Amino acid sequence: MKKDTYIMGIETSCDETAVAILKNGTEVLSNVVASQIESHKRFGGVVPEIASRHHVEQMTIVLEEAFNQAEVTWEQVDAITVTEGPGLVGALLIGVNMAKAIAFAKQKPLVGVHHIAGHIYANRLEKEFEFPLLALVVSGGHTELVLMREHGNYEVIGETLDDAAGEAYDKVARMLKLPYPGGPHVDRMAAEGEETIPLPRAWLEEGSFNFSFSGLKSSVINTIHNAEQRGEKINPADIAASFQASVVEVLTKKTYQAAIKHNVKQVIVAGGVAANKGLRQALNEQFVKTDIPLLIPPINLCTDNAAMIAAAGTIAYEQGNRSGWDMNANPSLVLK
Ligand code: KG4
Ligand code: ZN
Repeated sequence: MKKDTYIMGIETSCDETAVAILKNGTEVLSNVVASQIESHKRFGGVVPEIASRHHVEQMTIVLEEAFNQAEVTWEQVDAITVTEGPGLVGALLIGVNMAKAIAFAKQKPLVGVHHIAGHIYANRLEKEFEFPLLALVVSGGHTELVLMREHGNYEVIGETLDDAAGEAYDKVARMLKLPYPGGPHVDRMAAEGEETIPLPRAWLEEGSFNFSFSGLKSSVINTIHNAEQRGEKINPADIAASFQASVVEVLTKKTYQAAIKHNVKQVIVAGGVAANKGLRQALNEQFVKTDIPLLIPPINLCTDNAAMIAAAGTIAYEQGNRSGWDMNANPSLVLK
C-alpha cells in the first residue's frame, strides 16, 4: 500500500499570509489564510512595506493554527513547499525564509513553487486533472492561457501584453470610487447595470491568444472624463456592466478558441478574477455547448491561499523537484 503524503504549503506573495497542510495532494487538512486587505484598503492598493511587516507578524500564528487544525505531527510532514515567485519580493522573502528555516530545523525536503502553478492546482482539490488541459489564469498580477500536457508541465500560450485583468478591474473600481480590492465591487455593480457604453475589445492579431486591457481601461477613463466635462451623468453601474462585458467577452472567446485548437480534455479557470460572476456565467454558457468539461474552483480557492501551493507542491515533490538552501524569492520567476 502506498504511504500517505503530507505536504505543507506556505504562501506570502502578496497580501495574504497563508499556511496549509494537504494529505495525498488533494485532501485539505487545514488551509489558514490571514488577509491584510483591511490594512491596505485606505491606501487603495497593496503597500509592499506594510505587506512584508504583516507577513512577519502573522506567519508563526498562521503556521501554528494550520498545524492545530490539521492534527498532524512534524514527523508526518514529508516536505515544505513555498511560493518562490512571482510576487512582491519583500513579501515572498518572508515565506521563503520561513520555509527554509523549518526545512532546515526539521530536516525536510524544500520545494519552491510558482504562484500560478498554485492557482492552477487549486482546481485539483476539487477534481482530478485530465490532459491535455487548458488553464485560464486571471488574477491581480496575471492573465495567461496555460496549456498542460501532463502534471507539472506548463506552456504559456497566451499572456497579457500590459495590464492583468484583475489590475484593470481594480483601476476601473478606483475610477468609480469603489474600495480596494475593486474586482468584487465592479462585479456586483455590473449585475445592476446595462451594457450601454460601447467599449473596445482587444482581439490583437488573428489567432493570437495574447490579451491587452490597457486600451479598455483608458476608454473607461476617457468616457468618465468626457461625461464630466460635458456635465453629463453616466450611471456607474452601466460603466461597470459595459467594462465587464468587454473583459468577459475577450477572455471567454480566446479561451474557447484555444481549447478547440489544442483539443483539450478539460478547461480550468484560476486566480482571483475566476470569482467573477459574469465570467463564470459566460464560460459556462460557452462550454456547455461543447463536450469539454469546465472547472472553476469555489471562491475561497480562487483567491490566494496555501492549499493551492501545497497542491502544486505535492506534484513537484513527487516528480523529484527539490530546492537548495540558496533558494531565493524570485519576483519574476517564469512558469515552465
Ligand atoms: O489571485 P488573487 O487573489 O491575487 C493575485 O495573485 O493577484 O487575485 C486578486 C485579484 C484582484 O485584482 C481582485 O480585484 C480580483 O482578483 N477579483 C475580482 C473578483 N474577485 C477578486 N475581479 C473581478 N470580479 C471578482 N468577483
Ligand atoms: Zn494569486
